[in-house]
Amino acid sequence: MSDVTPLTFVILAAGEGKRMRSRHPKVLHRVCGRPLLGYPLRLARALGDRVVVVVGRDAAEVRAAAGPAVEFAEQAERLGTGHALQQARPACGDGAVVVLPGDTPLLSEATLARLIDHHAKTGAAATLLTALVERPAGYGRVLRQRGHVRGVVEDRDATDDQKRIREINTSVYCFDARRLWPALAKVTASNEQGEYYLTDVVGILARAGARVEAITTSDPAECLGVNDRKQLAAIAALQRQRTLDRLMTEGVTILDPAATYVDDTVQIGPDTVLQPGVVLEGETRVGAECVIGAGCHLDRSRLGDRVTLRPYCVLTEAVVEAGAVLGPFCHLRPLSHVGADAKIGNFVELKKSTIGRRSKVPHLSYVGDTTVGEAVNVGAGTITCNYDGVSKHETRIGDGAFIGTNTSLVAPITIGEGAYVGAGSTITRDVPPGALAVGRAEQVVKDGWAERRRARGKKG
Ligand code: UD1
Ligand code: CA
Repeated sequence: MSDVTPLTFVILAAGEGKRMRSRHPKVLHRVCGRPLLGYPLRLARALGDRVVVVVGRDAAEVRAAAGPAVEFAEQAERLGTGHALQQARPACGDGAVVVLPGDTPLLSEATLARLIDHHAKTGAAATLLTALVERPAGYGRVLRQRGHVRGVVEDRDATDDQKRIREINTSVYCFDARRLWPALAKVTASNEQGEYYLTDVVGILARAGARVEAITTSDPAECLGVNDRKQLAAIAALQRQRTLDRLMTEGVTILDPAATYVDDTVQIGPDTVLQPGVVLEGETRVGAECVIGAGCHLDRSRLGDRVTLRPYCVLTEAVVEAGAVLGPFCHLRPLSHVGADAKIGNFVELKKSTIGRRSKVPHLSYVGDTTVGEAVNVGAGTITCNYDGVSKHETRIGDGAFIGTNTSLVAPITIGEGAYVGAGSTITRDVPPGALAVGRAEQVVKDGWAERRRARGKKG
């Protein structure tokens, strides 16, 4: 199709989204990890030759979210969808113009390709995507005469009879540019909202005898628009279900899909098991044959194969290599890197630290700005004292070192390979390889002290 006539995609994203009652533009509200705008953009990039996004005034946030290879048209005043498209005219080519609303994230590439194909084959002036829905309230209704599309009437302007029509306009259209612009110029704002409705173009073309075509999607969920927060939640639930269905098809076990929250942007290998309450966000990658325990929350993190997360681990921008076992209840903050077959136990916090292969930090530790070598044992309650109140300092622990329980390592500090640190130590000077360092008060033992105390007590 696109090699015959160039396809310009126009995404309408300047609406205020009043019904969201938000300080942020509607198209930036997120559905499963992506802003609403990201969904039509993905389709436009896949199928179009050129992408124009119509944005409102002061839309720096929207422009930034749109990313590269996009042109913008500014709609300074929100005068309706027809007015919005008008602003895109200078940026549009000849060929065909595909219009996508910015607030309809579930539209599939297959359906859109079918619409474009039908438009090209029939040589129509306009082709609409419509849907048959149970509850059409709020949507524009498609008016037909002897099967032919004659126009679209908005819910607010519809008569009671028209309100009973279940075929709705989805706001997804394909136009022949030569027919679109003259028709759009004829649109007036004489309706209940005083706006220039893009939908009026349909009636204008039909009345002028132009060919108006429509295809109807078999999955009306594809056309659901987000106008308020209830619809945002409902659409996110549908999108989530699609993502989970895809993952299950790809071989991921999901114990309770109703209680599993995986962003559209996440990838998971086969034979991985997600227990209930798991949340996986952003560009998270999980390998094959992993177990993600109940209540784990991963954001922009990467797990290799065969990693086990016991319940309630929180990972942000962390990397965990194959075979490592973490949790329950551990916290990996940004730039944590856990090596293969390492073990991070309960109530352990890592920040900007690398833990080498087969090393263990099994209980109750804080490890920050630290490089731990391979096969190191970090005893329970070990704290790297990385902050002096002004700046952060680094700790280095060599391969095979053994850090006794309840040790404070005051950074900057280096513990050499194979060195030992006695339990309860506060270490302030570097420990050479193979040495033992003990930094605690000498134990005092007073034989028979208890007996003498009792004797003193009787006399007194
Ligand atoms: C629109 C259609 C309606 C259709 C429904 C499908 C019109 C008049 N109505 O109604 O027939 O059933 O979508 O979801 O087109 N926008 C702008 N500038 C504006 C106004 C809107 O860019 O001045 C953008 C919005 O950001 C949004 C899209 O256009 O992405 C649709 O606008 P919205 O106000 O949501 O239209 P609906 O009332 O849903
Ligand atoms: Ca809408």
